[in-house]
Amino acid sequence: MWRNKRLYQVLGLLLGMGCFAGAAAAQTASTCADCHGALDAPLQVTAEQFAADIHAQKGLTCASCHGGDPSKADMDAMSKAAGFRGKVERKQVPELCGRCHSDGAYMRQYNPSLRTDQLSQYKTSVHGKRLAQGDTKVAVCTDCHGVHGLRPASDTRSKVHPLNVAQTCSRCHADAAYMKSYAIPTDQFAKYKGSVHYEAMTMRGDLSAPTCTTCHGNHGAAPPGVGTVQNVCSNCHVFQSQLYEKSSHRAAFQKAGLPGCVVCHSKHDISQPSDAKLDGGPEAACMQCHKTGDVCDQARAEILGSLMRLDQAIRNADQVLADAEASGMEVSQARLEQDQARDALTKARVSIHRFQVPPVDQDVQAGLKIAAKNLQAGQDALRERGYRRMGLGVALLSILLVLVGLRLYIGKIEQKAR
Ligand code: HEC
Ligand code: HEC
Ligand code: HEC
Ligand code: HEC
Ligand code: HEC
Ligand code: HEC
Ligand code: HEC
Ligand code: HEC
Ligand code: HEC
Repeated sequence: MWRNKRLYQVLGLLLGMGCFAGAAAAQTASTCADCHGALDAPLQVTAEQFAADIHAQKGLTCASCHGGDPSKADMDAMSKAAGFRGKVERKQVPELCGRCHSDGAYMRQYNPSLRTDQLSQYKTSVHGKRLAQGDTKVAVCTDCHGVHGLRPASDTRSKVHPLNVAQTCSRCHADAAYMKSYAIPTDQFAKYKGSVHYEAMTMRGDLSAPTCTTCHGNHGAAPPGVGTVQNVCSNCHVFQSQLYEKSSHRAAFQKAGLPGCVVCHSKHDISQPSDAKLDGGPEAACMQCHKTGDVCDQARAEILGSLMRLDQAIRNADQVLADAEASGMEVSQARLEQDQARDALTKARVSIHRFQVPPVDQDVQAGLKIAAKNLQAGQDALRERGYRRMGLGVALLSILLVLVGLRLYIGKIEQKAR
């Protein structure tokens, strides 16, 4: 019994020592972080910071990127002999990241669905081309992704998550001082923040709305040129694009070297369009090129007239139906059908992109027919209400007459009785 107890104690001690040795090994593995956690910025990299990094979570260490020997607790950890690469210069960053991320065989071990074309794409971008020429002010991988706390793109805290991308790009592109040496504007972020797209994404959480990288690409970041602007918008606004393709604007704009959609909608501060965009005022989209009274301007006026006619017809029917409903008439079917008239108006506003009168007219006529039918239903209901009221009036009047008659009759009987 005694011997057994002794044995257990020894075993326990040995086990404890084993654990201690394990802990020590774990500690050695992060001597880089131990030391660097206590240094001042920019040399500071804490263990907590690195624990949030996708690379740490996948079992990679400081040495995976920097080389060196993480088992040495002193400055020898960073010796040439241990393979330490020294400071990572900005111009080396893409190649460093690409060492793994362009290696299909290596990346497949971790995540077979991850693309491995980031570096080759990057090299085709304005950023990549300028970096190759020695301009280190352009974006490198770590400007967009961060470093030492780098999260996957799907993480909402990642700098490249759709909700955060615009902020990430704007750090340089909205900084006039930083961009001073380049001949490009620095208003993209400010303008984008005023756009329908930004509103859809940030106010309504609609991640299908575009941010900077949706239009520009993330790794092949380049301004869509004249030829591709058309395609960027058409990825999402399919119907407008199909009509525009067939319009004579398409050919004329291309010949003049003009981009497509953005001629009328602008590129970064795209606002909610309204029929006012079609009016003949000097500010209207059309009057950049057309003259008051020319053939195209007449077509414009006709198109606008058509849209306004349907809009007014829908309002009229709405008003009458609302009156009818307020006076207790059953018009729910007609009110429901008003949606079809509204859809026709929406469709007509898409059809303007053919820039001819007939396609718009066709949609407008369809809508007018429905609105007219619903107006009729509302008017019928109001007339019906009129009849009912008159009927009720007549009934009330007869009852009143009978009552008066009765009263007179009773009076007469009472008189007789006296
Ligand atoms: C004993 C503390 C200590 C350990 C352990 C340590 N470092 Fe350092 N590291 C430093 C100090 C101090 C500097 C600044 C050296 C200098 O300015 O010459 C530095 C600099 C660096 C730099 C920047 C080099 C530069 O020129 O700016 C990198 C990268 C780096 N360390 C990575 C690592 C990695 C990776 C490990 C582990 C393999 C590691 N360090 C281990 C203390 C340490
Ligand atoms: C995925 C690759 C990667 C890993 C893993 C990584 N680093 Fe870095 N580190 C970089 C890159 C790239 C830079 C240069 C950043 C830049 O200039 O944008 C850098 C810069 C540094 C610097 C220099 C900062 C400066 O501004 O001078 C230090 C120090 C450093 N890393 C330490 C560490 C330590 C310690 C670890 C582990 C806890 C670590 N790194 C893990 C990629 C990595
Ligand atoms: C030593 C190899 C290696 C290096 C060097 C490296 N990475 Fe990675 N990276 C990986 C691995 C492995 C993963 C995890 C892939 C997985 O499992 O999803 C990863 C994941 C990522 C992810 C997340 C991908 C996702 O799922 O959205 C990003 C972003 C990333 N790395 C960027 C970088 C950047 C930027 C650099 C350079 C600073 C870099 N990596 C350097 C190996 C590396
Ligand atoms: C101009 C900004 C920018 C630069 C520079 C950049 N990235 Fe990205 N990266 C992004 C964005 C934005 C995404 C997110 C795409 C998405 O939402 O799916 C991304 C996604 C990724 C992913 C996840 C997988 C994928 O392809 O969608 C990896 C891995 C990655 N980048 C690595 C790199 C590497 C390596 C470099 C440098 C060669 C680099 N990135 C340079 C913006 C950038
Ligand atoms: C570290 C700073 C920095 C960051 C971050 C950055 N850029 Fe850039 N970008 C530049 C610089 C510098 C140029 C070169 C300007 C030039 O050549 O006219 C440039 C060029 C461009 C161009 C080409 C402009 C042209 O017509 O020449 C586009 C498009 C672009 N960036 C988009 C983006 C997008 C989208 C993001 C975010 C995903 C981004 N950039 C993030 C610095 C940055
Ligand atoms: C809806 C698509 C779209 C979005 C979103 C978008 N851009 Fe653009 N961007 C364009 C188009 C189109 C051009 C013009 C290309 C041309 O004229 O050839 C352009 C041009 C640029 C240029 C070149 C200089 C200039 O202003 O003409 C830069 C830089 C740029 N965008 C950066 C950004 C940044 C940063 C964001 C996010 C804040 C962003 N863009 C969002 C479509 C977009
Ligand atoms: C990635 C998809 C996508 C791209 C690319 C895109 N848009 Fe949009 N766009 C949207 C979404 C989503 C909305 C919000 C629709 C809503 O409010 O229901 C929107 C709204 C609009 C609106 C407001 C009208 C409406 O129906 O609400 C206009 C105008 C517009 N976009 C024009 C453009 C132009 C011009 C381009 C090209 C420079 C473009 N869009 C590129 C997705 C996109
Ligand atoms: C010649 C000028 C012009 C061009 C080119 C143009 N649009 Fe429009 N767009 C307009 C006008 C005007 C309206 C407003 C219609 C209304 O509300 O009455 C509009 C409305 C829109 C709307 C919102 C209304 C709706 O429901 O359709 C979207 C989305 C749109 N355009 C996308 C595009 C796209 C995508 C392209 C390129 C394929 C494009 N536009 C090309 C003038 C133009
Ligand atoms: C950037 C210049 C420009 C703008 C802006 C512009 N147009 Fe045009 N438009 C033209 C040119 C050029 C033609 C002549 C095409 C031809 O001769 O084949 C044309 C032709 C037309 C036609 C005749 C189409 C046909 O098939 O016969 C109509 C209608 C028209 N535009 C209406 C509009 C309306 C409405 C707007 C505003 C929403 C507008 N345009 C904005 C340049 C423009």
